[in-house]
Amino acid sequence: MINLEGRIAVVTGGGMGIGAGISKVLSGYGAAIAIADINPDTAEPTRRAIEATGGRAIVLRHDVTDWDSAFALAEAVEAKLGPPDILVNNAGVSGRKPLLEMTEKDWDFVLDINLKGQFITTRAFMPGMAARDRGRIINLASVVSKQGVGNFSHYCTSKFGVIGFTQSIAQEFARTGITVNAVCPGILMTPLHDGIVGQMADADHVDFETAKKNFVGLVPQGRPQTPEDVGHLVAYLASDLARNVTGQSYHIDGGMQMD
Ligand SMILES: NC(=O)c1ccc[n+]([C@@H]2O[C@H](COP(=O)([O-])OP(=O)(O)OC[C@H]3O[C@@H](n4cnc5c(N)ncnc54)[C@H](O)[C@@H]3O)[C@@H](O)[C@H]2O)c1
Repeated sequence: MINLEGRIAVVTGGGMGIGAGISKVLSGYGAAIAIADINPDTAEPTRRAIEATGGRAIVLRHDVTDWDSAFALAEAVEAKLGPPDILVNNAGVSGRKPLLEMTEKDWDFVLDINLKGQFITTRAFMPGMAARDRGRIINLASVVSKQGVGNFSHYCTSKFGVIGFTQSIAQEFARTGITVNAVCPGILMTPLHDGIVGQMADADHVDFETAKKNFVGLVPQGRPQTPEDVGHLVAYLASDLARNVTGQSYHIDGGMQMD
């Protein structure tokens, strides 16, 4: 059985969407949670929900693209909760952008948050985990981490990169008590995907509900996943049950990508 009692977890981008769901699920398994987000106010409802069920959570401001912010986060978590055991690199952005409309700024914005942000945050937390010889890093990849799709080249490139980063760091720390894995969600109706569905509706000249139905229709199981679905997979990878699992990337997408 998954048991995270006594563990301290950090969830980046935990203010809403998948990160909020992961935070609640990890708390349900017993972990104390540091919810980190560039918009910390959005995380307050999640913090209150965790405390209402007897869990422990704090909210900290953190920008994944900022080196100093990441090192300050690692220090603050240790000071307020204790040495962090689990890092969930969840913060991410997306958006439909055809290549011929994409600017350098568009490209850098997505790559900086989705890929460089995971490097910077991992870089800040790894020294402590390495010194303690104990740690779990779980990176949010995507169903488009292994299969590109048109109009999302910046996003797909960032998520392919997450797999390479995950495998490299897993190899580098394989002889330690640290594991590094990725999870690959498919389609969830979070604020991130609401924005994408809106852009698809405009591009296809259909209303939002039709675009949403078409989008969810891509899932063989015929339903979107929930943040909590992703949270349970993250909790397994964070637990002692997964001590021999490292460098892997698990799809949780209702059958969209089978490999
Ligand atoms: N929603 C989906 O269907 C889906 C599918 C596959 C993968 N993912 C991935 O899951 C992760 C979470 O996605 P989501 O749908 O919950 O997104 P979301 O937009 O609902 O939430 C993202 C969170 O990240 C935070 N954030 C944005 N920029 C940040 C920064 N620079 N520093 C710190 N925090 C920042 C936001 O404030 C927000 O709270 C992302 O990595 C995304 O790529 C999502």
